[in-house]
Amino acid sequence: MAQTAGVTDRIPLVIDTDPGIDDALAVLLALASPEVDLELVTTVHGNVELAQTTENALRVLHLAGRSDVPVAAGAAGPLVHPLPTRAGHVHGTAGLGGVELPPSPASVDPRPAVVALAELLLAHEPGTVTVAPIGPLTNIALLMAVYPEAAQRIGRVVWMGGSAHRGGNVTSAAEFNAWADPEAAHAVLTSGLPVTMVGLDVTLPTVLTEEGIERFRSTGGTVGETAAAVLRQYVDAARDAYGISGVVVHDALALTEAIVPGTLRTVRRDVVVGTTLGAARGQTLVDSRSVSTADTAVEVAETVDSDAAVEFLVSRLASYGA
Ligand code: BDR
Ligand code: CA
Repeated sequence: MAQTAGVTDRIPLVIDTDPGIDDALAVLLALASPEVDLELVTTVHGNVELAQTTENALRVLHLAGRSDVPVAAGAAGPLVHPLPTRAGHVHGTAGLGGVELPPSPASVDPRPAVVALAELLLAHEPGTVTVAPIGPLTNIALLMAVYPEAAQRIGRVVWMGGSAHRGGNVTSAAEFNAWADPEAAHAVLTSGLPVTMVGLDVTLPTVLTEEGIERFRSTGGTVGETAAAVLRQYVDAARDAYGISGVVVHDALALTEAIVPGTLRTVRRDVVVGTTLGAARGQTLVDSRSVSTADTAVEVAETVDSDAAVEFLVSRLASYGA
């Protein structure tokens, strides 16, 4: 994986997010990456309530000195069924591991997220913008419904979510982002949009160790120190949930694929999502019997060089201190 690119044309990037500890890392990674130009952040319900994810997004951008990036708030809940719980036990009740970041001088963009997204897509050439949803897919499903002509212009959707062979992390069947809005996930994954699914198959083996965290804490300036502090809670949750010493920064891996396309080896698969109310709700059913030739197939990430991906993240976060 290239550590620095000879960047001529930066990829216009939108991150749709529910910060969220690993969401915060993903945003910081994108801002440290010359291959992409983060033009918009849209927020969604998910790990914590929408008002909190929106405030957190503003604060993370401010931490990186980029409060110029607009933040537009999106869906406050899933399309159909309200969520029984959120993920405050993993991310801290305010979503950033109990760390309070300084408030941003910026205000939230007055436009709803789907309007901001549609305007951005219509202002770019078709096929050029990468949208990286790293939370529930509610905003993307709404964009498809309200502004289909804008949605069709998306170059890539690089989604952190789902699981092909690893089961779930929020239930035995479902990964959190799929479970948090299964109807939206099903709509997007069967839409024919150019979706890459970065699921638990590739994120769980990709562990950011405590040594890696220490590297950017000590050399990444204020941003590196703050990112390390925010991760503390996640380290504890990962030890309890998976028995690992380190953290699985799911969303940062999806951003790595958005920043350096081809980082992950993908296979075209047909994917549907369980939308019944019951044990299989939010399960991503990935048809691994054959490579799909359907227009609606999803590029499912199946193979990752975890050491290279972690090194990419650590070195980019460390670069904040340069
Ligand atoms: C996903 O769920 C959230 O808690 C994380 O931010 C990530 O997007 C992992 O299942
Ligand atoms: Ca997330």
